Amino acid sequence: MLKGFLFSWIIGFYLVTIAVAQEDQSGFISIDCGISAGSNYTDIITGLSYTSDVGYVSGGVNKSISPIYQTNALERQFLTLTSFPIGTKNCYTLTPAQGKFGKYLIRASFLYGDYDGNGKLPVFDLHIGENYWDTVTISNASIPIRKDIIHTPPNDSIAVCLVKTDTTSTPFISALELRPLNVTAYRTVLNTSSLELYARLNLGSLTNQSYRYIDDVYDRIWMPFQWDNKAIINTTQEVRENSYRVPSVVMSTAVTPDPLIATGDSVSFAWIAENMTDKYYMYLHFAEVLELQVAQIREFNIYVNGNLFYGPVSPIYLSTTTIYTMSPGIGTGRYDVVINKTATSTLPPLLNALEIYREV
Ligand SMILES: *[C@@H]1O[C@H](CO)[C@@H](O)[C@H](O)[C@H]1NC(C)=O
Ligand SMILES: *[C@@H]1O[C@H](CO)[C@@H](O)[C@H](O)[C@H]1NC(C)=O
Ligand SMILES: *[C@@H]1O[C@H](CO)[C@@H](O)[C@H](O)[C@H]1NC(C)=O
Ligand SMILES: *[C@@H]1O[C@H](CO)[C@@H](O)[C@H](O)[C@H]1NC(C)=O
Ligand SMILES: *[C@@H]1O[C@H](CO)[C@@H](O)[C@H](O)[C@H]1NC(C)=O
Ligand SMILES: *[C@@H]1O[C@H](CO)[C@@H](O)[C@H](O)[C@H]1NC(C)=O
Ligand SMILES: *[C@@H]1O[C@H](CO)[C@@H](O)[C@H](O)[C@H]1NC(C)=O
Ligand SMILES: *[C@@H]1O[C@H](CO)[C@@H](O)[C@H](O)[C@H]1NC(C)=O
Ligand SMILES: *[C@@H]1O[C@H](CO)[C@@H](O)[C@H](O)[C@H]1NC(C)=O
Ligand SMILES: *[C@@H]1O[C@H](CO)[C@@H](O)[C@H](O)[C@H]1NC(C)=O
Repeated sequence: MLKGFLFSWIIGFYLVTIAVAQEDQSGFISIDCGISAGSNYTDIITGLSYTSDVGYVSGGVNKSISPIYQTNALERQFLTLTSFPIGTKNCYTLTPAQGKFGKYLIRASFLYGDYDGNGKLPVFDLHIGENYWDTVTISNASIPIRKDIIHTPPNDSIAVCLVKTDTTSTPFISALELRPLNVTAYRTVLNTSSLELYARLNLGSLTNQSYRYIDDVYDRIWMPFQWDNKAIINTTQEVRENSYRVPSVVMSTAVTPDPLIATGDSVSFAWIAENMTDKYYMYLHFAEVLELQVAQIREFNIYVNGNLFYGPVSPIYLSTTTIYTMSPGIGTGRYDVVINKTATSTLPPLLNALEIYREV
């Protein structure tokens, strides 16, 4: 089967285009479900301003998580939630300022926290517009679940719906957030399809912290990833953005093969497709973080499933280059990405950050 597989991803890349910093929350919709009607607050960690969900949805019941789950480490948005014991499908209506055909990052967050005292972990579906988005399967009452999607609505308003699929489970939601993106980024073949987040990783993190707004103007959440057998290289200087606007704090660290371990001259990773028909979009973000000597060259090629995907790439010092797919990878059960140094390169490859999305 694999032999006949045609790897037809089209490649694009973005060099430096410095966008004007717009560090405000204009266009953001930040809803903390379940807080009292008409109330709002500014989150102490992110500085984001949250409002109640009253007016965005009808028919829900506001609840608080059980006190034993209300720890200091928990973000405020997880303390309350809205549950929907009545009706099969309950929808939030978001009306973003950019209107239809705008591009938005939408994030729905869930923490069960035994709010109903039943101790039974719920499962239900999430829809966006008229399409299935994902299934929410709570597997631990104290662990938050986040679902991220990049969506271009055909209408001026967007419906985010919670759908009962099991008569013994009640759908609920803790927070719902919408952020406007630049329509030129995260393009898909059909501009109306959505991209569901599969992975968004900050590689070589020195802090083990996740980063979001205000570091990220689009409020994407960058998760730290501890990569075995990799060395970390980093800079304390600012790394310039391109149109993808990956925050400098994320781009300033990278992984590279550990010189103390004979693992070759490559950085490689893989993922398993849940379904052969799944379509994946990949974004690799590179920036040189070391000031190279005259005789030093860092240059590499990127292979996917043994085929050259893009190359050679020579990351620019303190400036982000994004290598991405314009048409998705499809039709194989596994994606093997190998970034290996070219014959002329004197330094091993690096990788600062990566994102993988699945088209829905
Ligand atoms: C639910 O909302 C009402 C009014 O909006 C408020 O008085 C009540 O305290 C809320 N309940 C919980 C559990 O937050
Ligand atoms: C609450 O909302 C009001 C009206 O929109 C706004 O003026 C105020 O700044 C908000 N307060 C917080 C803490 O976000
Ligand atoms: C998306 O496609 C529709 C229909 O072809 C078009 O009207 C619209 O302008 C496109 N939007 C963008 C942002 O390209
Ligand atoms: C969006 O608008 C079209 C007509 O313009 C309508 O047929 C469709 O049902 C609407 N979709 C949603 C999700 O409201
Ligand atoms: C749920 O997660 C917590 C914190 O990560 C962990 O301590 C606990 O063992 C988990 N519970 C179950 C049932 O897996
Ligand atoms: C969106 O990105 C393009 C280049 O990719 C840039 O020219 C444009 O200024 C950006 N728009 C905004 C609102 O940042
Ligand atoms: C980050 O996490 C890894 C693995 O859990 C640990 O070895 C390392 O010490 C942590 N680093 C920091 C700065 O906390
Ligand atoms: C890398 O980070 C460490 C710890 O923050 C710092 O001491 C060091 O100067 C950084 N390296 C470079 C090249 O900036
Ligand atoms: C894979 O996707 C196809 C088309 O979306 C669907 O018909 C099929 O049921 C899926 N298979 C599995 C195992 O989920
Ligand atoms: C780089 O990796 C590809 C795919 O695994 C392999 O075919 C190729 O031989 C490698 N090239 C070098 C120079 O290591």
